[in-house]
Amino acid sequence: MSISEKEAERALTEQVVASFAATPDERLRMLMQSLVRHLHAFVREVEPTEAEWMAAIRFLTETGKMCDDVVRQEFILLSDTLGVSMLVDAINHRYATGATDTTVFGPFYMRGMPERAYGENIALSPGAPALVHGRVLSTDGMPIEGAVLDVWQTAENGMYSGQDTAQPHGNLRGRFRTDAEGRYAITTIVPVSYPIPTDGPVGRMLDATGRHPWRPAHLHFMIDAPQHRKLVTHLFDEADPYLTSDAVFGVKPSLMVAYRERTADHELARRFGFDGPFCEARYDFVLDRN
Ligand code: BEZ
Ligand code: FE
Repeated sequence: MSISEKEAERALTEQVVASFAATPDERLRMLMQSLVRHLHAFVREVEPTEAEWMAAIRFLTETGKMCDDVVRQEFILLSDTLGVSMLVDAINHRYATGATDTTVFGPFYMRGMPERAYGENIALSPGAPALVHGRVLSTDGMPIEGAVLDVWQTAENGMYSGQDTAQPHGNLRGRFRTDAEGRYAITTIVPVSYPIPTDGPVGRMLDATGRHPWRPAHLHFMIDAPQHRKLVTHLFDEADPYLTSDAVFGVKPSLMVAYRERTADHELARRFGFDGPFCEARYDFVLDRN
């Protein structure tokens, strides 16, 4: 490449950056100019052929086509598998406050799930019975009454209700409200590790790059309480083999729990109505004040 060709390429970048100079919103101006600089730097570094650039555009087009308003969001999946979701999460939760760590939201949340009673069973499909319980506290250690824990997890086949239309509506989902002592209790099944959807462009990207699609077993939580910052997190099974290679990089050591085996004569079996062996996981969540 001649010096004048190189200068022309640089000048193109600066011309595009300058085209945003009059953007009235300062933040938007900064975002667009930075995006152009980084995008051009990437293109300059990898020097794609025209066919490669068209393949990239096709990939993004297909990603967009695999998005709907309910259960499929291939762009979230792309952001998750490229580690961008966890980077945004880290940037937005930089200062340790004593609150529970956050992790990816994922694409399978469904709003408007039924409100559940303390200890109610959310599993309408088979699995190893489990009790997940604990408290929701404020960073000053005080229990939070009336915190709402929106929970969701996959069935034993590794799919979420909604994603898998064969499952009953609301299976393994629900909203639990804490009592006056901040306590919550969920009867469910022990979560399983499962692959993220691989039937779209993200699956092809993982396959072509020799990456596996598995996530370690987890239960999702979105916890909302008055005067507190919303918490989006998971509880991971500490025994899961995929903890060190989560396809979406979402694992944090503070979010691992043990599922302890209990027998039918355990005091909790009587309280929560287990008539055979079950597993118990216990976890206290801590929320930041607003
Ligand atoms: C999930 O845990 O539901 C999830 C998170 C990121 C990508 C796919 C699934
Ligand atoms: Fe999940």
